[in-house]
Order: sequence, then structure tokens, then C-alpha cells
Amino acid sequence: MKHYKIASIPADGIGPEVIAAGLQALEALERRDGGFSLDVTAFDWGSERYRRTGALMPEDGKEQLKGFDAIFFGAVGAPDVPDHVTLWGLRLPICQGFDQYANVRPTRILPGIESPLAGVGPGDLDWVVVRENSEGEYSGHGGRAHRGFPEEVGTEVAIFTRAGVTRIMRYAFTLAQARPRKFLTVVTKSNAQRHGMVMWDEIAAEVALEFPDVTWDKMLVDAMTVRMVKQPRSLDTIVATNLHADILSDLAGALAGSLGIAPTANIDPERRFPSMFEPIHGSAFDITGKGIANPVATFWTASQMLEHLGEPAAAARLMQAVEAVCESGIKTPDIGGNATTREVTDAVCEAIRASN
Ligand code: NAI
Ligand code: MG
Repeated sequence: MKHYKIASIPADGIGPEVIAAGLQALEALERRDGGFSLDVTAFDWGSERYRRTGALMPEDGKEQLKGFDAIFFGAVGAPDVPDHVTLWGLRLPICQGFDQYANVRPTRILPGIESPLAGVGPGDLDWVVVRENSEGEYSGHGGRAHRGFPEEVGTEVAIFTRAGVTRIMRYAFTLAQARPRKFLTVVTKSNAQRHGMVMWDEIAAEVALEFPDVTWDKMLVDAMTVRMVKQPRSLDTIVATNLHADILSDLAGALAGSLGIAPTANIDPERRFPSMFEPIHGSAFDITGKGIANPVATFWTASQMLEHLGEPAAAARLMQAVEAVCESGIKTPDIGGNATTREVTDAVCEAIRASN
């Protein structure tokens, strides 16, 4: 029997609702599989802790998480706390502190879910967006001077390093190579941004030489939005900067039916530190406490977590259960159904129990 230590950080808004659903599904998988067990420790970090103590996580938070095999994260953000405080107070310190430089965002249209794109169904849109997760536009480099004066200046500097771009490129080419189509699209904005983005293109061409069996092409990010909408079948694996991939993957999630189904994995490919798994969506104040948050994104990221831990059979079983439940029409309102979080979760757990 293998044992895995999981840190759960449900945090804010619908985070606790979807993480509870995810843990219920993971328990059902543990029982069904019998070959592994998850030892889950919950952390009460988030905006409530910030109001109480002035910090979203304790100062030694990273130390506390270090010994875990994975982190299962909900969402952070509250109406009364500025978003840059919540993001930089919890999620980014974990991603950057543990050098989770590869952010992996699979997107496909699940059976029973309708894409807003006419004539596009399951099989027509099957992408993985790889987001550089440690530098670029979100490196936190910059500052403000002359605050409040008319001449106030704010800078937000994008940092691209050869080491950082090379490692994410290698990760993306390796992932593309493992997928049936062996096809990678490299996204930049190297026409208008002529330094870091041109370096990004050059490094892509260099790394491509290490992967002769992977076909690749290049897109400017603005044209990429058009291609995603007009020619979804023409894409497979996609790699882009922190900012570009953040935006493109929200679009990808929406094109696949809802933000409520899109998962993400923040991976340290070298496994020096725990990786972190979370739904893409935020804390969704508008539906918090209503019991209708879609748990599918959290199930999907739980499946990514099992895959990362080395339990591919359980990971596949979970996705099969999710697909069967979506296809049967047990869906939350964001994807056109009228089921609650609990009903979807119970149905997925039942499908796991009944699976062979
Ligand atoms: P959001 O993702 O929370 O919500 C956007 C829209 O999608 C809302 O209408 C919401 O109801 C819907 N939605 C999201 N997840 C859903 C689910 N599971 N089921 C059904 N509907 C769902 O993004 P928003 O409104 O821009 O941000 C709200 C807060 O979340 C902010 O404080 C923001 O900073 C934070 N946020 C946190 C993230 C994280 O922790 N990784 C990511 C994105 C936003
Ligand atoms: Mg985002």
C-alpha cells in the first residue's frame, strides 16, 4: 500500500465547497482502488486568516508544506481584500517558493457538455496549455514612484531568462511528444515586444532541434485567440508566457464549456518540492454558499494530482466517472444543468464505486 501526504488549502469563496467535493471523490477512489491511501491535512489559510492576523498564510508556511507529496488548492480572493494582496499573499508564494515553473492546463470538451462554438463537440477541441509559471510578466519586478502625484509612475517589468525559457520549452516539447499528435504551438508577441519575446522564439527554435519528431509552429498571441475560436482542431499542445497563457487558458476553458470544468497543475518537474493542483477558476463570490459550484474542475485537477503521484489507473478512473456523469446530464447550472455540487459529487462517487 502506498501512502501519500496531501496538504489541502480550500481557502476562499467556493474553494471549500469544491475541495470538499474533490476529497470525497478521492476517498471513493482510495476505497475502490485499495492500492494507495491519502493522508490529508487541511490548512485554514486564506482571507479569513488575513482579517484575523494580517497574513493569508503563516510566515513559515512554506516550511509547513515542504514535506507533503502534493498540495490540493481551492481558490483565493475575497470581495473586501484587494486581489493583488490575496494572490501575492498565498497562491504566488507557493508557486514561486516551490519553483512550480510548469503550469499545465488541459482542456477538452467532455461528453454532454456544449461548447459555445457552433459545430464543435468532443474530439474537436483537445488541448493542453503549458504556462510558464515562474517569471515573465508575473515576476513581481517593478515599482511605483511619486505616488498620488500627477507625475506618478508605475512599472511592471517582464523578466525572461534563458534558463527559465529553456526549461519551460523543454517541458512543453516533452509533453507534446507524449501526445498522439506530437504537435506544439509556441505563442509570443515578438513583433511588438522585440527583446524578451524574440529571445523566446529563438530558444523555441533551439530546443526544437532536441525533438525532431515534434512538429511545431509559432503564433502571435492576438492571432492565437482567433485561431482558438475559428480552428480549434488545428491546435494540440500550446506553450506561452505567464500572462499570455493565463488569458488563453481562460478562453480555452470557456470554449470547452465553462470555467467550472477547467483544471490546472502547478508542477515542479524536478520534484524537489510538492506540486500544487487547483481548479482554474477563482472564488466566485456570486455563487458562494449556494451549493451550485461546479466540482468538475476540481475532480479533473485531482486526476492530474493522482497522475503526478504515480497513480495513473485511479486518475483515469476518476475522469471516466466524471465523463459518464456529465454525459448522463447530472450537471451544475453553469453547464446547463440543474444539479447541485452535492448531487454531481455523489453521482461521481457512485460511478467510481460501480466502475470495473
Ligand atoms: P471567478 O473564476 O471566481 O468567477 C468568474 C465567473 O465564473 C463567475 O460568474 C463565477 O460564478 C463562475 N464560476 C467560476 N467557477 C465556477 C464553478 N466552479 N462553478 C460554476 N461557476 C463558476 O473569477 P472572478 O469573478 O474574476 O474572481 C473572483 C475572485 O477570485 C477574485 O478575488 C479573484 O482574484 C479570485 N481568483 C482567484 C484565482 C485563484 O485562486 N487561482 C483565480 C482567478 C480568480
Ligand atoms: Mg487566470
